[in-house]
Amino acid sequence: MLKIIVMHGPNLNTLGTREPEIYGTTTLADINAMLQKRGAELGVVVECCQSNYEGGLIDYLQQQASETSGIIINPGALTHYSIALRDALAGVKAPVIEVHLSNIYAREPFRHHSVVAAVCRGHIVGLGWRGYLLALEGLVDLLQEHMQIRTEKEK
Ligand code: DQA
Repeated sequence: MLKIIVMHGPNLNTLGTREPEIYGTTTLADINAMLQKRGAELGVVVECCQSNYEGGLIDYLQQQASETSGIIINPGALTHYSIALRDALAGVKAPVIEVHLSNIYAREPFRHHSVVAAVCRGHIVGLGWRGYLLALEGLVDLLQEHMQIRTEKEK
């Protein structure tokens, strides 16, 4: 069974009460439950983690890298400056989708740049919790396409 990991960065543990006018009122537990439910429908295992620490996310990524088929990440504020996280993502073979609840391009200028974007296969911004579900569906579709191409080549 394919395994997808979903990584949430700093402050995302406070979703639900954190600036609800920007991030909505859905909690992180709600988002993870939706992802797990959708994952089960799509036939993949979804494992979620959250850390307020750059090193915590990097450790988790390194531990999971060899067993993971795809990665969904919202690095929170680390998006805008963590070269260490970018390097860790660049070192992983599995495709990565970057998700942001808010539209980072319509906010303060310091949020307009993502240092991880260039090492991600794609990114989804501004759609709130829906972005995670779209990322999961997109990732599973990409992986299935990839497996199909491989099987056809082997024929
Ligand atoms: C965020 C956007 C970041 O700029 C911010 O620091 C966050 C959340 C988002 O999901 O919209 O923590 O990643």
